[in-house]
Amino acid sequence: MTPLIVDTDPGVDDAFALAVAARSPEIDLRAVTTVHGNVTVDRTTDNARRLLGTFGRADVPVGRGADRPLVHLLGRRSAGIHGTDGLGGRAADFGPPVDESSLRAVALMASVIEASEEPVVIAAIGPLTNIATLLSARPDLEESIARFVLMGGSIGYGGNVSAAAEFNVWADPEAARRVLAGSVVPTTMVPLDLTMRITVSAAWLDELAACGPVGAALAATRESYLAAYSARFGHAAMAVHDAVALLEAITPGTVSATPLPIDVDTSTGPGRGTTIGDLRGPEAAATDGARPVDVALDADPDAVRAELWRRLTG
Ligand code: BDR
Ligand code: CA
Repeated sequence: MTPLIVDTDPGVDDAFALAVAARSPEIDLRAVTTVHGNVTVDRTTDNARRLLGTFGRADVPVGRGADRPLVHLLGRRSAGIHGTDGLGGRAADFGPPVDESSLRAVALMASVIEASEEPVVIAAIGPLTNIATLLSARPDLEESIARFVLMGGSIGYGGNVSAAAEFNVWADPEAARRVLAGSVVPTTMVPLDLTMRITVSAAWLDELAACGPVGAALAATRESYLAAYSARFGHAAMAVHDAVALLEAITPGTVSATPLPIDVDTSTGPGRGTTIGDLRGPEAAATDGARPVDVALDADPDAVRAELWRRLTG
């Protein structure tokens, strides 16, 4: 079983992703670590603990992580989309909360990696502050990380939090640059280009709600999130970004990836947080010294939806 750590800022789509991670028998979920992002780290930590309680995973330690980006202060959160509690106003429906680990996120990740006989996969579905801090604090562990699967960035789609930038990268661009451009860990980036194509409809959520208490609790988080995406798409559907990344972490090959060197705009101008994919490809990476990242630009949306359904209802 593949050892997995999920670093997360729940978050409506994070909740779907954690449900997939908690209910997939082929992976060994060794830890969940939390980070600032959609809401404060106090909220994301409480939400992660509640979600794992609902999923019956009191065995999984939850480590509290960074409460702010590495360098700049966070200007905006996502309460308008995810609700002020991060779970569409329904956080209290989840639980009972599992215990919080006495280890903070970076220490918990390090202890899991050190204790593991196999290299560990890390799925990071929030801002990359904890991951960049881990790489800086424990460079000796880099070779024991099998793979990063990151939800974030955009190559040609444009942004969601600004005209150009995707939220997770925008929320800590310096950290994202450290991870995407400055690490040697094999990395798959799952950008908006793909996740905005893999939507679930209101009818899909209704059917999920009818399948049992976990599906019902997840579907009930939808209100503000679905409204925001429906306004964007022009019909009642929402993107479940983080769940797509989790599926790729659990079942490699779910997405089709193109190797591209990636840099991140850390300026304070309108491009802040933009991921710049070098479409000249890996040869350019070799020339310029940047390493290629596997950018998930394609997948079969129906197959991904079907697999999410199977894991959320199984
Ligand atoms: C990402 O930003 C957050 O709002 C979501 O949870 C997801 O991780 C999408 O841009
Ligand atoms: Ca997230």
